[in-house]
Amino acid sequence: MKVAVSRKEHFNAAHRLYNPEWSDERNEQIFGKCSNPHFHGHNYELIVTLLGEPDSDTGYVYDMKKLSDLIREHVTSRFDHKNLNLDTAYFKNLNPTAENIAIVIWRILRQQIDNQYDLKIKLYETERNFVEYPAH
Ligand code: NI
Repeated sequence: MKVAVSRKEHFNAAHRLYNPEWSDERNEQIFGKCSNPHFHGHNYELIVTLLGEPDSDTGYVYDMKKLSDLIREHVTSRFDHKNLNLDTAYFKNLNPTAENIAIVIWRILRQQIDNQYDLKIKLYETERNFVEYPAH
């Protein structure tokens, strides 16, 4: 009887993908334009999904206003209009790929949402490229 409920939110952020162990040439080779030393931005679409059973009194799996507030307070307020490499502690030593951003967001929200709910993150970096965590 589990139902998946999802909330979509949005943030803009800048990043640079690079591995500090590598030369600029190698970074350019692997990450292409995403390794531009002067950074570049993306319009991220974030979809947070909770899986749970509808409550017998309300019929709701989760209060979506509460979910929206949690995402804004703990995720988008920290990432929106920020440089992920420079302005956030999460990516000081972690390459801010969509994969790693999704894992970081999952870890942040997992602390805020009761364990009775399964939590899934879907993150669109472009309209055509998106990642999901956990993978299944
Ligand atoms: Ni990029």
